[in-house]
Amino acid sequence: MKFLNIDLLCGNNTQKQTISKVTILAFIILLIFSLTTLSCSMFSYYSLLKINKYKQSNIAIDDLSEPQSSPSTPVKKCNIFSGEWVPNPEAPYYTNTTCWAIHEHQNCMKHGRPDSEFMKWRWKPNECELPIFNPLQFLEIMRGKSMAFIGDSTSRNHMQSMICLLSRVEWPIDVSQVNDLSFKRWKYLSYNFTIANFWTPHLVRAKKTDSNSVLFNVYLDEFDETWTTQIKEFDYVIINGGQWFLGPMVFYEKQKIVGCQYCDIENVTHLNLNYGIRKVFRTAFKAIISLENFKGITFLRTFSPSHFENGLWNKGGNCVRTKPFRNNETKLEGHNLELHMIQLEEFKIAKKEGIKKGLKFMLLDTTQAMLLRPDGHPNRYGYWPNENMTLYNDCVHWCLPGAIDIWSDFLLEMLKMEGMRSTSKKMLHLLKN
Ligand SMILES: *[C@@H]1O[C@H](CO)[C@@H](O)[C@H](O)[C@H]1NC(C)=O
Ligand SMILES: *[C@@H]1O[C@H](CO)[C@@H](O)[C@H](O)[C@H]1NC(C)=O
Ligand SMILES: *[C@@H]1O[C@H](CO)[C@@H](O)[C@H](O)[C@H]1NC(C)=O
Ligand SMILES: *[C@@H]1O[C@H](CO)[C@@H](O)[C@H](O)[C@H]1NC(C)=O
Ligand SMILES: *[C@@H]1O[C@H](CO)[C@@H](O)[C@H](O)[C@H]1NC(C)=O
Repeated sequence: MKFLNIDLLCGNNTQKQTISKVTILAFIILLIFSLTTLSCSMFSYYSLLKINKYKQSNIAIDDLSEPQSSPSTPVKKCNIFSGEWVPNPEAPYYTNTTCWAIHEHQNCMKHGRPDSEFMKWRWKPNECELPIFNPLQFLEIMRGKSMAFIGDSTSRNHMQSMICLLSRVEWPIDVSQVNDLSFKRWKYLSYNFTIANFWTPHLVRAKKTDSNSVLFNVYLDEFDETWTTQIKEFDYVIINGGQWFLGPMVFYEKQKIVGCQYCDIENVTHLNLNYGIRKVFRTAFKAIISLENFKGITFLRTFSPSHFENGLWNKGGNCVRTKPFRNNETKLEGHNLELHMIQLEEFKIAKKEGIKKGLKFMLLDTTQAMLLRPDGHPNRYGYWPNENMTLYNDCVHWCLPGAIDIWSDFLLEMLKMEGMRSTSKKMLHLLKN
């Protein structure tokens, strides 16, 4: 698997930054939609009864056996993140009636989305196949393990997609330590597998300048202890960030203001988007690497682009497309490209540092695939129309079921490759001795 897109890393980075206002404030959508609650009341043990039925049905147990590999047959290289969306009439693999874990604002069918084609695509890498997520296989690999989702609400969006995908095998029970949707913990009892999400949109310590403001003080060099103190026992950590750095903030380093972005404070230097995002990823990775007794694998799940068209996010901007883009219809550019590139650069540095401590970093590079899915967002189907209130269109999060489900396809494939690699390493070791 090729983890770094060299073209992007070495690409022309001198183009003048022009961030459209449409996207600058798209992060506010994250803010607005982060505050409402997930209805879990529909949870029932009834679903456990479905396991047997499931096991006899569509996914054969044979699928669980790993492809054979030995040191003499190296794993074929294929960049699974470079490809195209192709129709998949079999999808989706759950619905709003079979899965209760769909967040209200991502339950697009419930809120009257008229088209359903957006659920019927799979990702086809250029040089190989990406298997559809196999929940049994995933749970087998995760037996006795734990996984943390760290970042903004797209991270929660991913975890809920995963709960729905796994629901054909088992529902988790709620083992949250606090009563807060931003910090849920779920356990799959039959597999002793725990998943948890940690909401940290800025990844570092940050707080609003005052409760009515959208302006944040962001402490670029300080760990956000709400997650950094909680993750050392996790086997897998999936970290993401980006969207919130398009908003107004004041940057602190060594507890002093070093600059700001759209803050309009006298005498404070304007620093561009790249400054903050680079620093926070550096700090977040540093936090992970410096954890004592942490042995987990860290995944960077790259930036998930928004798709506002036909206006600003708060001026009627929307995302009304009903089909993915073809590969040749759009490309990563502007701030999407910058963000992605910075994430890759910081990832590369962290990966190097991690190796010194025996820690593994892996790149879950979803950006290109998601760039091609302007049709995957709730738009105005994340809520009921309300004539008395202005509600903004959501072109940031992803409808469930939908495009975001492939993040788990990627993840499982990476885990399988990783498993094969460490098996062949062990065998090599045995052969040598
Ligand atoms: C599921 O979606 C359908 C429309 O496809 C809708 O009528 C129904 O109310 C939704 N159910 C739930 C539980 O969200
Ligand atoms: C469950 O997994 C945890 C690690 O996540 C381990 O410490 C514990 O012993 C396991 N429990 C059982 C019953 O296997
Ligand atoms: C901004 O800088 C000018 C010139 O150095 C100074 O006179 C002024 O008091 C400063 N304003 C603030 C709010 O610090
Ligand atoms: C993109 O590629 C497809 C298939 O190769 C082709 O039919 C289409 O015309 C191309 N579109 C553009 C905008 O180049
Ligand atoms: C809008 O406001 C009016 C008057 O306050 C109220 O009667 C009506 O029920 C409201 N409509 C909705 C959809 O909330």
